[in-house]
Amino acid sequence: TDRYAVFGNPIGHSKSPRIHTAFAEQTGQNLCYDAIEAPVTGFAGAWEAFVDAGGRGGNVTVPFKQEAFALADVLSPRAQLAGAVNTLLVGEDGRLFGDTTDGVGLVRDLHAHAAPLAGARVLLLGAGGASRGVIEPLLEAGVATLTVANRTVSKAEALAALFAHRGDVTGCGFDRIEGPFDLVVNATSASLAGDLPPLPNHLFSADGLAYDMMYAAEPTVFLRWSAERGARSVDGLGMLIEQAAESFWLWRQVRPDTAPLRELLRREL
Ligand code: ATR
Repeated sequence: TDRYAVFGNPIGHSKSPRIHTAFAEQTGQNLCYDAIEAPVTGFAGAWEAFVDAGGRGGNVTVPFKQEAFALADVLSPRAQLAGAVNTLLVGEDGRLFGDTTDGVGLVRDLHAHAAPLAGARVLLLGAGGASRGVIEPLLEAGVATLTVANRTVSKAEALAALFAHRGDVTGCGFDRIEGPFDLVVNATSASLAGDLPPLPNHLFSADGLAYDMMYAAEPTVFLRWSAERGARSVDGLGMLIEQAAESFWLWRQVRPDTAPLRELLRREL
């Protein structure tokens, strides 16, 4: 049985073991997948102990994505652009390969919801690690313009500058947002605290879609606010499942069907 695990702190509520165990059953792969809570200052040690005990690969979540980036011997181009790693894989030669599947996970879920992407005007809220990881995949998906808005304006501007050579990306503060947008993605952690960034009222175009990378049993405050303004709203549960499927594929070269997991996890929320 090949061993995999997700590393984070805290990790108690992680759905990753549930998802990957279901993927393994569905595809007949002989593997086990655990959740490991590494000490906040001890990710590298926890990872090495796991590999010494036979670990073949893993996922990395808050707060270790930058440390996993630093630990990897080889990085995928998309991990390099994201500046973070959420998937680790021990190669045949023992070298550690780091990748990130968050961005592709978001775009696959957006496609699954028939979200406007090609030629779309897109607003990304937030300029932290979660935003950085999805910019290149959104540009690759053919969006026409991407505006990054953030509370700390300098971070939005810096992020836009980092990706300016790849497409039409601009950074601004919340007070300078000029809509309407076909798609608004909330990548701030504001939802966690039940906060809503200060957004202008006429944010969405006629068929606009609101997407929150967070998910919960109840719609987030951002999704409620958006629905009240006529936008279709989607939470980040599907992104979680799609990024997991991409990690599973990297480890096993087998692509699980994500549809049954979507239904199952939605019912369990
Ligand atoms: P992550 O890796 O999840 O993106 P992060 O790097 O800490 O985490 O970034 C959190 C993001 O949420 C930032 O864009 C942050 O804005 P600042 O850069 O101005 O700090 C944003 N954020 C957090 N709480 C917020 C709030 N209450 N209102 C608006 N934005 C908030």
